[in-house]
Amino acid sequence: MWGSNQVGLGASNTEPCKIPEQRKISVPHWQRSAKFFWLSEIMILLTRKAEFSSAHFYWNPDWSEEENVRVFGKCANRQGHGHNYTLEVTVAGEIDAVSGFVVDLKRLKEIMEREVVSVYDHRHLNFEVPEFAEMIPTTENLALAIWRRLEGKMENGRLHRVRVYEMPDLFADFYGEGA
Ligand code: NI
Repeated sequence: MWGSNQVGLGASNTEPCKIPEQRKISVPHWQRSAKFFWLSEIMILLTRKAEFSSAHFYWNPDWSEEENVRVFGKCANRQGHGHNYTLEVTVAGEIDAVSGFVVDLKRLKEIMEREVVSVYDHRHLNFEVPEFAEMIPTTENLALAIWRRLEGKMENGRLHRVRVYEMPDLFADFYGEGA
């Protein structure tokens, strides 16, 4: 990336690494600002994890009991069962020139705790979390619901991805509506 100016200035120079001082000074303003603009476009993805344990069951009230059992199997047991979920929240942003951070990790943790973990942890999702009164609490729907809880809450950076693991070998990703 640092070579871009050198190529532009020293294209006719057979030794591009030895750009004369006077030519360095003559870099036009637009070219310098273009370089800084390009640098400011660098995006970093930063991910923070959190864990919560919740109970759920799968049930579609529009179906008969037989149909629910046929589709959802043991997951349709209305007493519910538990999972230890892992949540990953990925934020996209530029690296702050002063702090070196994309986001304040402590604040991100607090937001995840306040908006998601404190609401979902040690709860029966079907009965105690409002969005799952109408939506089956599958891993996919958890990713969607958690995105909606976090959207607009980021203080720095942009919410990029919500990943929810129900088990280490099963996870769902959501990148936002329309993504
Ligand atoms: Ni389950």
